[in-house]
Order: sequence, then structure tokens, then C-alpha cells
Amino acid sequence: MAGYVDLHCHWLPLVDDGARTISEGLEMLRSLGTLGFARVIATPHMRPGLFDNEANALRTAFATATAAVEAHRAERELPAVELACEHYFDDVVVGRIFRGEALPFPGGRAILLEFYEVDFPLSVDHRLADLRRHGLLPVIAHPERYAVVARDPSILERLLDVGAAALLDTAALVGKYGRGPRRTAERLLDAGLYHGACSDAHRPADVAEVGEGMRVIAQRYGTEEVDFLFREGPTELVAGRLPG
Ligand SMILES: [Fe+2]
Repeated sequence: MAGYVDLHCHWLPLVDDGARTISEGLEMLRSLGTLGFARVIATPHMRPGLFDNEANALRTAFATATAAVEAHRAERELPAVELACEHYFDDVVVGRIFRGEALPFPGGRAILLEFYEVDFPLSVDHRLADLRRHGLLPVIAHPERYAVVARDPSILERLLDVGAAALLDTAALVGKYGRGPRRTAERLLDAGLYHGACSDAHRPADVAEVGEGMRVIAQRYGTEEVDFLFREGPTELVAGRLPG
């Protein structure tokens, strides 16, 4: 394996809009392993009203699924699995983060955040700076998908200036979310604004698009960029450090 680390994946079954069975979850892990991922972190949605997941219930679901992963490990090569969460940045979830009721990345130094699709909340830069002071590195999921970033990428730069990190959803590069996010992803890559890339896979078929996206990165930016986005960057982020 190439030692890649997937910081954002919905392989944990039956907790959100990700894998629907443990077989689907195992299939996603096997395919990610084939692409070179040695470590895949499950990041189910925590989004009140849509995915009412809380940390303890997710820990229980993860323990059950991990038993199945370990049972299958002997018959086929599978990446190591860990648990975190994709935290929707609303007042309920932010409250949980500050009370220690969230699921940061393993080690508790960085945390995956997603935002309302259309706009960032008021004073988002100050709120991310608060998280930094709280000892957590905020990792912004799929910035290329937010309309506000597409309109003006400098808004993302402002968030990176307060110490947040940006994580590319690789399949955006092959048009999974349409032309807009694809173009924005290319602009952000050209500007060197990403600290890492992930699969954000919800189904086994999504992993093939991740592979295509990795090939696009290799062709346009070289294999060193692939190594940075999928190994070095994510490894640093989990350790709570901004890479590069
Ligand atoms: Fe996601």
C-alpha cells in the first residue's frame, strides 16, 4: 500500500446516507485499500434534523462494524479503520464540540467540519479561531462544493488564515458534483489551498471515481502532489499540524 490516509469516508453502515450494509462498507474498504489507502477514518454525518447521530451511539455502531472488518481481514487485505465524524457547523454541534461531546479525529487534535451549502455562518472566521484556541485544528470538508467559495475563493483563504485546513473531495475533479464544483476544485488546487484530499465515499461505486480523481491529480500536478494530498497532508492534519 502507498500509505494513504482517508480522512473522510462514509463506510460505516446504517448511520447516515453512506453504506447501507456491512457488505457495502467492506467493499468500500477493500477498494480504497486497492487504491493505496492504509488507513480509513469513518466520518458519519452529525447533522441535527437530518442525521441525528451522537458520539456514543456512533462508537457502538463502529465497534460492531469493526468486529466484522477484523473477521474479514484474514481473507482480504483491508485498511486500518478508525472513527471520527463529519460535524455540521450549527449551534447544536458547535456546543457539543466545546463540551467534548463530538468526535474529533483520532488523537483529538483536529476535527472535520461541514457547512451549510450556500453560505458560511456569520463570524465563521472568529468561530474557527475559537476552535483553534480550544486546541482543535478545524478541517473544512469539500470547500469546492460551497456556493460562497465558488463565488469568491478568497473567502476560503480568510478561513485558512485563521488556521483552518481545507480537504478536497477528490471525485469533484471528475465532475461528480457538476461543473461548478469541478472548476472550483481546479482553481483551489492551482492556488495550492488544499491541505489534503479524501474519498467522501458513500457507496462502493464512489471509490472508482476517487481513483479517477487521483489519476487526474497525478497527470496535472504530478505524483508528488498525490503523495502530499493523500499521505503527507492527512497524516499531519490528524496530528493537529498544518502541512506544507
Ligand atoms: Fe461526507
